[in-house]
Amino acid sequence: MRIFITGGSGLLGSKIVEIGMIRGYEVYAGYCHSKLEFGEPVKFDLVKNTDLEVIYKIEPEVIIHTAALTNVDECEVNKELAYEINAEGTRSVAKIAKELGASIVYVSTDYVFSGDKGMYKEDDEPNPINYYGYTKLMGERYCDCIVRPCVIYGAKPASGKVNFALWLLNKLKNGEKVNIVTDQYITPTLNTNLAKMLLEIAERGLKGIFHLAGATRISRYDFALRIANKFGLDGDLITPSSMEEMKWVASRPKDSSLDTSKALRYLREKPYVLDKALEVLKEEMEKC
Ligand SMILES: NC(=O)c1ccc[n+]([C@@H]2O[C@H](COP(=O)([O-])OP(=O)(O)OC[C@H]3O[C@@H](n4cnc5c(N)ncnc54)[C@H](OP(=O)(O)O)[C@@H]3O)[C@@H](O)[C@H]2O)c1
Repeated sequence: MRIFITGGSGLLGSKIVEIGMIRGYEVYAGYCHSKLEFGEPVKFDLVKNTDLEVIYKIEPEVIIHTAALTNVDECEVNKELAYEINAEGTRSVAKIAKELGASIVYVSTDYVFSGDKGMYKEDDEPNPINYYGYTKLMGERYCDCIVRPCVIYGAKPASGKVNFALWLLNKLKNGEKVNIVTDQYITPTLNTNLAKMLLEIAERGLKGIFHLAGATRISRYDFALRIANKFGLDGDLITPSSMEEMKWVASRPKDSSLDTSKALRYLREKPYVLDKALEVLKEEMEKC
């Protein structure tokens, strides 16, 4: 299979590229500003669609579109850029996929939901409360296979950033105190588990909406405690806090946890419960 992964330098994309190559696929990895670790490099910029014609030369059979402006507060401040990358960029990539007869798997987000209810199913009505969620939802209009994860974490920094788990581990290892909210609920998603589920969707040519997240709903505070506990670090450094105290620019959903029962039914690669995900994370970090 010849696959093109947009966002191949990112937290999720880099893991899809890595696993895709292990499976023997011909993997092309899109990047914009950051270094790539794996894959055949393909530089392009979704801003003003610069260099997108390179995709025609690759002639991928499948495109997994993970590239996005993922900084939620930046999207709120720089709305034009967020729309250009997340909505218009997705439209352009989907148009090229159609012209090439390639299938496209679009990675959307739990932030398309308001967070009033939690444990969202695929047929629940989206109602984003911030601009990031709105632009990602607009991107969904152009794709017939949509995957929504929730709070992705993994063993390595990517795209010049550390994810929540790595940030927390660094702080705790340095003996620093952290404030973590007790009133925000999520279904955190290990990038390795998500990458395998996404590749299965690509391999089987599945269509529709899939909530591909971790199988455990948990508050961010308890998630942090579970990470500390798994890595033998001092959980007392984690101070309970509330969403109201956070100095976020954009509003965040209170409960954007996703119901993954459809994935559990349809996929061979199942969403991991948190215990298993943290075990895999630990093993991966020991190899880094
Ligand atoms: N992280 C989460 O918790 C989370 C939760 C739910 C959904 N998602 C969704 O999952 C997907 C992957 O997220 P992630 O955390 O892996 O993202 P990430 O680590 O922030 O990586 C973003 C990727 O998008 C690329 N990109 C950004 N702007 C671009 C542009 N103008 N042109 C081309 N490429 C561009 C980046 O390339 P360079 O670094 O090379 O510039 C990078 O490879 C995103 O679609 C996101 O909306 C993420």
